[in-house]
Amino acid sequence: MIPNTPSFRLDGKRALVTGASRGIGLGCAAALAQAGAHVVMAARGMSELQAATDEMAAQGLSVEAVQLDVTDLEAVREVLKTPVDVVCNSAGMARHGPAIDARPEDFDAVSAINFKAAYFLAQEAAKGMQNGGSIIQISSQMGHVGGMERAVYCGTKHAVEGMTKAMAIEWGPRNIRVNTICPTFIRTPLTEATFEDPAKRAWIEEKIKLPRVAEIEDIMGAVVFLATDASAMVTGTSILVDGGWTAG
Ligand SMILES: NC(=O)c1ccc[n+]([C@@H]2O[C@H](COP(=O)([O-])OP(=O)(O)OC[C@H]3O[C@@H](n4cnc5c(N)ncnc54)[C@H](OP(=O)(O)O)[C@@H]3O)[C@@H](O)[C@H]2O)c1
Repeated sequence: MIPNTPSFRLDGKRALVTGASRGIGLGCAAALAQAGAHVVMAARGMSELQAATDEMAAQGLSVEAVQLDVTDLEAVREVLKTPVDVVCNSAGMARHGPAIDARPEDFDAVSAINFKAAYFLAQEAAKGMQNGGSIIQISSQMGHVGGMERAVYCGTKHAVEGMTKAMAIEWGPRNIRVNTICPTFIRTPLTEATFEDPAKRAWIEEKIKLPRVAEIEDIMGAVVFLATDASAMVTGTSILVDGGWTAG
């Protein structure tokens, strides 16, 4: 008997993508919709989000827009009243600066979205996953290494890596898989300032071993892999899409 490759399709599945109005989240939403899922796309700003879902719907993709602040745990609960098979959490933020200067309010703001909201979104999604499911956190290579002027951000992403492993242990028996995707630097509104600083751009280009910086498309295969049966035995781990950054 010749083995068959498990499916990379998501037909009949429902997915929630947060931070879906732009950047990595928009790429993840497009990837999941192109793989056949119905994708609920969430962000705070409705005009940008609606423009994205309109364009995708015009391409024949099955999507809907939902206004959601992921730090509003009651609102997260409301959105997840309709259970989903896949969650991809890409809502996130950064307030970079020297570690010595970070203020408690910066720490709280970044932690609230990158860590606390990520935790309770996963928890709420898992409650509804009666037939198993896949929870994907968009973490960062900074969840595996340190970086200049991003101690708080690195802390939140390391926290996401840790909670992902612990959730995978508890929810594995229910066939709920929990994983992260850890991108290197991708040019998005979040990283605009970093890319505009010549010294930081040189640092990025030196650390990435491949001869270019990453594009949003570089994340799309990883999210489809983790969402589908193609990764049915993969849980509690991360896919580093880092161009070799963490290799040394
Ligand atoms: N870009 C990179 O190089 C890079 C590298 C590694 C990891 N990451 C991670 O990837 C994720 C996405 O980054 P990105 O570069 O795509 O960022 P981005 O371009 O700034 O997009 C952020 C998205 O999240 C939404 N968002 C922000 N706060 C939200 C909230 N409280 N509730 C719901 N949605 C919210 C934004 O829409 P609204 O503002 O309208 O809500 C937007 O859709 C983040 O977790 C980031 O840490 C990025």
